[in-house]
Amino acid sequence: MSAAVADWDAARLAGWSEPHLARVEAALSRWVGVDAPVLLGDAMRYAVLDGGKRLRPLLVLAASEAVGGNAAAALRAACATELIHAYSLVHDDLPSMDNDVLRRGKPTVHVKFGEADALLAGDALQALAFELLTPEGDEIPAATQATLCRLLARAAGSQGMAGGQAIDLASVGLALNEAQLREMHRLKTGALLQGSVEMGAACAANVAPTALAALRDYGAAIGLAFQVVDDILDVTADSETLGKTAGKDAAADKPTYVSLWGLDGARAQAKQLLAESLAALERSGLAETAALRALAHMVVDRDR
Ligand code: IPE
Ligand code: IPE
Ligand code: MG
Ligand code: MG
Ligand code: MG
Repeated sequence: MSAAVADWDAARLAGWSEPHLARVEAALSRWVGVDAPVLLGDAMRYAVLDGGKRLRPLLVLAASEAVGGNAAAALRAACATELIHAYSLVHDDLPSMDNDVLRRGKPTVHVKFGEADALLAGDALQALAFELLTPEGDEIPAATQATLCRLLARAAGSQGMAGGQAIDLASVGLALNEAQLREMHRLKTGALLQGSVEMGAACAANVAPTALAALRDYGAAIGLAFQVVDDILDVTADSETLGKTAGKDAAADKPTYVSLWGLDGARAQAKQLLAESLAALERSGLAETAALRALAHMVVDRDR
């Protein structure tokens, strides 16, 4: 057992996560889909509430705590990352993309509400993410709001998630090389996870540049590791455990870390990325990184 797991085990991670998750759930329920036309509001709430591991919000909150960030900003940033993520899942599942019918253990949004409302729910969730980051009043300094918006926009847009999804769609049936596959995964999934860490760090002013750079490296490593493990679980886990249809990547002829490296090779890559993420935390010089360490282990050791 590694030192990080020994000094912050799964039970302690659960104890740390529980109150944070409760605050995130309550905030999402308060903010998502209220005052929307009824079908759109229902689709937005269906896409976001009661489901998912909430990894991105936890990364925001853990990174913010590591740097002593503004708690109000961190809660809003945490919810904003989850809204972008939920929107990306709604669109990812559409017939024109991965054509999936099961997500988070329920019928996908387009199956339940139709394609048009699924598109609009995704659009509205993305807009709401940025609205949450820019509240009126002086609780969150304007400069912090602007930084959070910039980081989230970059993570979500053509240089991030949307760009990666475009590469994913253009790569069906192709045998990507290592560099191409890494770039696709870095963008479609890694960017938002790295962005979540950076947004947490941006909730404090005056974080040392070395600490910021180390947190960025940590986020990049776990962000890529997350999609490597997603590729592995698509092969090794069952649909009930995953809450989404297993075996889709091979069926759709998608290039993945498993198709390139095989299962053992992909697992070795994930372990290597875990080691890189932990090394980055070590050199951050930050005192309170136990939750970030535990989340890195969770990314790689998870079974769903
Ligand atoms: C699934 O993400 C899609 C990818 C980016 C690989 P998660 O595995 O975080 O999905 P939820 O939020 O737990 O449902
Ligand atoms: C999705 O990758 C990445 C997103 C930006 C949503 P996948 O297509 O592998 O995600 P799952 O397996 O459907 O959750
Ligand atoms: Mg996809
Ligand atoms: Mg998919
Ligand atoms: Mg997948």
